[in-house]
Parts: sequence; C-alpha cells; structure tokens
Amino acid sequence: MLEGVDGSGKSTQARLLAEALRTRGIEVCETREPGGTQLGEAVRALVLATTQDTLSDAAEVYLFAAARAQHVAERIRPALRQGEWVVCDRFVDSSLAYQGVARGIGIDVVASANALAVDDCVPDLVIVIEVPDAMSARRRRGGDRIEAAGNDFQVAVAKGYRELVARAPGRCRMINGEGTPDEVHARVMDAIAGLG
Ligand code: TYD
Repeated sequence: MLEGVDGSGKSTQARLLAEALRTRGIEVCETREPGGTQLGEAVRALVLATTQDTLSDAAEVYLFAAARAQHVAERIRPALRQGEWVVCDRFVDSSLAYQGVARGIGIDVVASANALAVDDCVPDLVIVIEVPDAMSARRRRGGDRIEAAGNDFQVAVAKGYRELVARAPGRCRMINGEGTPDEVHARVMDAIAGLG
C-alpha cells in the first residue's frame, strides 16, 4: 500500500511499483481508494465533491469505509486468492491519518469503524511517502473537498502518518519522497525487498 499526504507523489510511485513488479513477472492488481469499484468511484465523487459542504465527519468515515468494504470484497480479496500482488494507492491508513488524526476522531475509533471493511486483508507493508510540507503544498491543485480543508489540515495528516509509523514500524515504513520519481522509486524498491 502506498500512502502519503496529497501532493506526496504516491500515485506516481504506485504506478512505477506496479510496472516494476510486472517486469519481474509478478501478476499485479493495481488499484486505488477511494475507488477501485463502481461503488467506490461513486463514493469518491460524493465524498470529494466540494458541494458536500455539510458532510459530517462521522459520515465521511463511513463513506470511505463502505467504499473500502466493497473494494476488499470485489477486488483485493479475489486478487490475493489468485496469487496476485496488490498495489493500492491509499487504504485504511488514509482513514486513520485523515479522519483519525487530522479530523480529530481518533485512530482507534476510526480503526474500529473500518474493522468490518478490512476484515483480514491487512497489508503486508504500508509505504508512507514523506515530503516537506511546503513541497506537497506546492504540488497540490486544491481541487477537491479534502484538499480544500487547507494546509494546516495536510500538516495534521502528515503528523498522523508519522504517528502510525511510530505505532507499527514493522508494518509501516516511511520513505523520503524528495528527489526525482526514479530516485524515490529506488527507495520504494528497497522497502519492498524483503516481501514475497
Ligand atoms: P487521492 O486519490 O489522493 O486524490 P487525487 O485524485 O487528488 O490524487 O485521494 C482522495 C482524497 O481522499 C485525499 O485527499 C485523501 C482522502 N481520503 C481520506 O480522507 N480518507 C480515506 O480513507 C481515503 C482512502 C482517502
């Protein structure tokens, strides 16, 4: 799983990782959240629409979790059963960092709300791409409802990711997202070296 604040470059890295694994002959299911299924894409449109300006924090948690439940059932679990590797651009740690920490709901509360969605599909490795706050701020286009929450919100998300890595250093690995896409990709490949 690839994680990071908006503008961290994780989507580029997810693509490069999937390509590199395929070059090695590994079957890869490349997917993203929110999305990855028809329901997930519908939730994505709903939850990121700037017109949803009265959406409650709790409703936001459950919308992401509902999309995730469908994603696990429809794409992730079947892919794992087929022996594929799953490369996912965001997963439950996004909810823990964005809703749990940045929205202030609490990591444990958000983790409980997601337990049914994730079930036993716990990632082997979560790679968190960290970049300086000013760099991700420059890269953001600011288009969707979550990005519109502003820079302080994104700084809180970054803090959330640091907290998650500190809590589970074996499961979550922080890598430096500065440099060219190829330089960061090399760090991602180092991080996954022990898997598989
Ligand atoms: P992202 O795919 O990074 O958006 P983009 O299309 O701009 O690359 O993610 C969409 C937004 O949703 C992002 O701001 C993070 C947020 N998000 C959460 O707040 N909680 C979640 O559980 C997930 C999966 C995403």
